[in-house]
Amino acid sequence: MKTIGVLTSGGDAPGMNAAIRAVVRTGIYEGFKIIGIRQGFKGLMRGDIEEMKLSSVADIIQRGGTKLRSARSEEFMTDEGFERALNILRIFEIDGLIALGGDGTLKGARRLSKAGIPVIGIPCTIDNDCGHTDFTIGFATAVETVLDAISKIRDTSTSHGRANVIEVMGRNCGDIALYSGLAGGAESIILPEMPMSIDEISKRALQGKNRGKLHHIIILAEGVGNAYEISDEIYKKTGIDTRVTTLGYIQRGGTPSLMDRMIASEMGYKAIKLLKKGEFNKALGIKDNEVIALDIDEALKQEKKFNKELFEIAKVLSI
Ligand code: F6P
Repeated sequence: MKTIGVLTSGGDAPGMNAAIRAVVRTGIYEGFKIIGIRQGFKGLMRGDIEEMKLSSVADIIQRGGTKLRSARSEEFMTDEGFERALNILRIFEIDGLIALGGDGTLKGARRLSKAGIPVIGIPCTIDNDCGHTDFTIGFATAVETVLDAISKIRDTSTSHGRANVIEVMGRNCGDIALYSGLAGGAESIILPEMPMSIDEISKRALQGKNRGKLHHIIILAEGVGNAYEISDEIYKKTGIDTRVTTLGYIQRGGTPSLMDRMIASEMGYKAIKLLKKGEFNKALGIKDNEVIALDIDEALKQEKKFNKELFEIAKVLSI
């Protein structure tokens, strides 16, 4: 193996740049030619590539987003698009590929592996919805962003004696809501895995109010319900003035946290080391603080588990 391609695909995540940097710097150190593929699988189908040098990844470890840019590509899912991508890999003599992204990206990488391309997948998504790993790159930073927002909203919530519904991202996974709700001391957390009824939320708000609490923070995972309807219902049931904030894309950007930079650097380094040893078709992950490499097929079969205990802890602590 002489030439390795690297791409970032799907929703961007803070820490992707740190991982690209680790891949490029370790790859060049190990004597590989490293090709950056812009805009993920979409760019791969178009041959949108550049050779990466040591200096190509200077000054990016601290930046959110992805230097290689990203895209979601339906075309790559079609046989025609997939064949085009394979052809580009052949034309540019790219012998191995490191794909950074979420579930969809890992599936795309698996399909390439079945077509004979040695791949390594690195899980990067703010959603933390990959079953084979405790954490994905980008999740910790996204939760820090939500925590910062909760603190700010709590100030005004207290001043006005209001309830505030804060909608967070996560697609079908409630981890951003769960972790930020627990660490942010939210009174209620509404998750896809464990929906809480309006009656229970209202009861918790009134119990808090009766013992002198001036704020009430409700974290709502996207897709579980309409934030404005939930807010109206809480107001109707409690008489507590309720407001809505949708945090949106603020959660996808920003300077990556310590943890995201650490796991990104370790996984980028390990991806190259594995390819060098001839070990490929793996998805990297982190389990019990150790970077692991699983067969990509096995990794994709693992279902994301919901941490019910964290939910119980959050409920008890925010009474
Ligand atoms: O997967 C990351 C994520 O931000 C999800 O939390 C969200 O549901 C989705 O991407 C939004 O995707 P897009 O920016 O493509 O609309």
